[in-house]
Amino acid sequence: MGKWFPTVYDFFMKPLEKHRFKDIRSNLIAKAKGRVLEIGSGSGINLPHYQHCVEQVTAIDPNEQMLQRSAKFVRQGKVQVQLIKAEAEKLPFADNTFDTVVATLVFCTVADPQKAILEIKRVSKPGARILLFEHVKVHHPFWAKIQDILTPAWKKVCDGCHLNRNTLDYIKQADLSVLEFKNYYKGIFITVDCSYQPEVNKK
Ligand SMILES: C[S@@+](CC[C@H](N)C(=O)[O-])C[C@H]1O[C@@H](n2cnc3c(N)ncnc32)[C@H](O)[C@@H]1O
Repeated sequence: MGKWFPTVYDFFMKPLEKHRFKDIRSNLIAKAKGRVLEIGSGSGINLPHYQHCVEQVTAIDPNEQMLQRSAKFVRQGKVQVQLIKAEAEKLPFADNTFDTVVATLVFCTVADPQKAILEIKRVSKPGARILLFEHVKVHHPFWAKIQDILTPAWKKVCDGCHLNRNTLDYIKQADLSVLEFKNYYKGIFITVDCSYQPEVNKK
């Protein structure tokens, strides 16, 4: 990964964050409660959005520089935050630990999204909520093709990010129950509120 990526990430995201993203993040994160795991917390932009119904946030990211950058948001937040260097595909937590798992703009980058979802299920308590905000492959065939063409170069420049990830398909294949789905910017961005119900899903 380019060492410069964490430095420029917030700068390039600022125009989007100032407008619609701020509301999208805040509406999604308002649903978090109890013990929360945030995957790929990056520079910590979600941390000020957690409300008092959250007991504690455990924020993981494999990138040391990103974790360091999140210190300022840890101080601004209302809830206790623990930062841990870790990857979504190998979560250093016991089974059935978390009430909510949050991932925003992360599934585009994780090397093995299916393994990451299995890990999320393992560490989630039955009934846990999984809250995602992601950019994905669009339905429009022309623009989907453009995303495919751009992805190899985009991945090199943007820290492994795939423009063409079918994250919603991974969620459905993993048998998570989708409670609410919304799309933004003509389907480039989505939010998904899912529930992990191991007993229901086995039937
Ligand atoms: C595009 S940034 C998003 C950061 C933040 N969540 C946000 O909403 O702005 C993607 C983040 O995912 C992290 N990441 C990459 N691979 C990961 C993995 N395998 N497990 C967890 N996080 C990962 C990166 O280090 C980076 O901080």
